[in-house]
Amino acid sequence: MRFFVLILFLLAFSSCYYDSEEYLYADINVCDTLDVTYQNFVSGLLETHCNSCHNPSSPSGNVITSSYNDLLIIVNNGKLEGAVNHLPGFSPMPKGANQLPDCDLAKINAWLNAGNPQN
Ligand code: HEC
Repeated sequence: MRFFVLILFLLAFSSCYYDSEEYLYADINVCDTLDVTYQNFVSGLLETHCNSCHNPSSPSGNVITSSYNDLLIIVNNGKLEGAVNHLPGFSPMPKGANQLPDCDLAKINAWLNAGNPQN
């Protein structure tokens, strides 16, 4: 019986702990732009928002975003930066959808400024 009470106490205590942790994270609302790489962030973002229209079998606008080497083409000619930031003179991407969320944009711009590291 004592053991059971102890378990209950631990459960109650740990759930409070998690609640307050969630609250803290929600409150701070950080966007971490440090050490963004192709592998740890950019490839997943492109997979979610871009690759359906920009892959080898359907390279809309002659652009492929589904591999690092193909991506380098639009990194180097400035079109990736222009398209996702909706800069004048570029076709705004993702096409037919909202601009990428602020934090995603901040991360992709940080990655471009850092010289587009792969790993
Ligand atoms: C629904 C399909 C679709 C999606 C999703 C999409 N694109 Fe595009 N993209 C196109 C088409 C079509 C073009 C050709 C130009 C045009 O029609 O606007 C294009 C053109 C481009 C260009 C060339 C722009 C220029 O001004 O020359 C770039 C760079 C690009 N896309 C990057 C992206 C990126 C990065 C994403 C994801 C954030 C993305 N696209 C999502 C369809 C799409």
